[in-house]
Amino acid sequence: MKESDVMKKNKKSDKVIVDPWGKSLVEDYSRLIKEFGMQPFDIEEMPSPSTQMKRGIIFGGQDLSVIAEAIKKKKKFYCLTGIMPSAEKIHLGTEAIIQQVKYFQEMGAITYVLIADVESQATRGVPIEEGKKRAMNFHIPAYIALGLDPKKTIFYFQSENKEVSNLAAICAQKITENEFRAIYGSVHPAKVMSAFTQMGDILHPQLKEAMPGVIPVGIDQAPHIRMSRDVAKRLRSEYGFFAPGASYNKYTSSLDGSFKMSKNEDIGKIEIPEKDRKELEKKLKKALTGGRVTAEEQREKGGEPEKCIAFEYCKNHFIKSDEVLGEMYRECIGGKNLCGECKQKYLVKYANNFFDDFDEKFEKARKIVGKIRFEQ
Ligand code: TRP
Repeated sequence: MKESDVMKKNKKSDKVIVDPWGKSLVEDYSRLIKEFGMQPFDIEEMPSPSTQMKRGIIFGGQDLSVIAEAIKKKKKFYCLTGIMPSAEKIHLGTEAIIQQVKYFQEMGAITYVLIADVESQATRGVPIEEGKKRAMNFHIPAYIALGLDPKKTIFYFQSENKEVSNLAAICAQKITENEFRAIYGSVHPAKVMSAFTQMGDILHPQLKEAMPGVIPVGIDQAPHIRMSRDVAKRLRSEYGFFAPGASYNKYTSSLDGSFKMSKNEDIGKIEIPEKDRKELEKKLKKALTGGRVTAEEQREKGGEPEKCIAFEYCKNHFIKSDEVLGEMYRECIGGKNLCGECKQKYLVKYANNFFDDFDEKFEKARKIVGKIRFEQ
């Protein structure tokens, strides 16, 4: 797929528009950094950077130096993420976001996870009650299984949080129709409804006390961050709001490397959970690699891990140990294994470990979901 569905050019101004409800794809991160007023991610300033940060999955951010300062000086800050309970699976890109939230949680962030049941109703037609059910049965325990500490996480449903919907109404006064259209490329009612609710999500932790916050997201969410930052500034004199900061993850490639994984595409997707391990293995074995044309050439020159989806998945999701990943890398560039052997030894093995670990933790987490008290 060449032309991006997510990034569209606004015909009049040649500006890039990202559609959060579109399908996929961003190739040119440096262009986005410029257009969206981001800064490239600077690992040097982050205290005890996570493995994920060291492996380059975050490409940019906004006001991350403010967050780094708050961590170092032990000042209050928050981290917030949201999930749509429309799909009943989580894709790997979301797993990477949760790892970021986990990092900020461990660094002392007041942590919020919300279920975007209002957005799911408005944009996907998922009834609110159905969204709640799915979240209780799957999304919330999955987020816990993937590493969030339920005791230190504030969960809520958009549909139940009065502060959020009231704040959404306040935010709605601060943006004109033209501004909304310029950011989102449309003023579709469902999008308007969802965008203001999301702004309510992003800013509401500051109603109690103004403080910096960080919203880890994929690039598809950039418009929401942009508008939240603008509105925060316009409400500053009244509420003292800090503009919310953000960190942006790179997209996860699809297995065949042709386009990026998204919640709405079926081709070549690895999702969480993967119950059928034979099916998983079959899919993984189809992953594009950085192998050479012939076995001899591969032995002689080695493979190209930079071009290899198997390596990308291991690096970004399945292999947490630097030592093991380093071994995979060295064996590849040294031409030790052919791609099939390498996949078996690393990708298939560590993906299986990852999903076994998930299944076990998920079952445990399901048992405690009933005890969670949701913010209203
Ligand atoms: N729009 C997000 C999605 O499509 C979900 C979401 C709602 C969210 N509110 C949020 C994400 C606040 C981050 C912050 O996945």
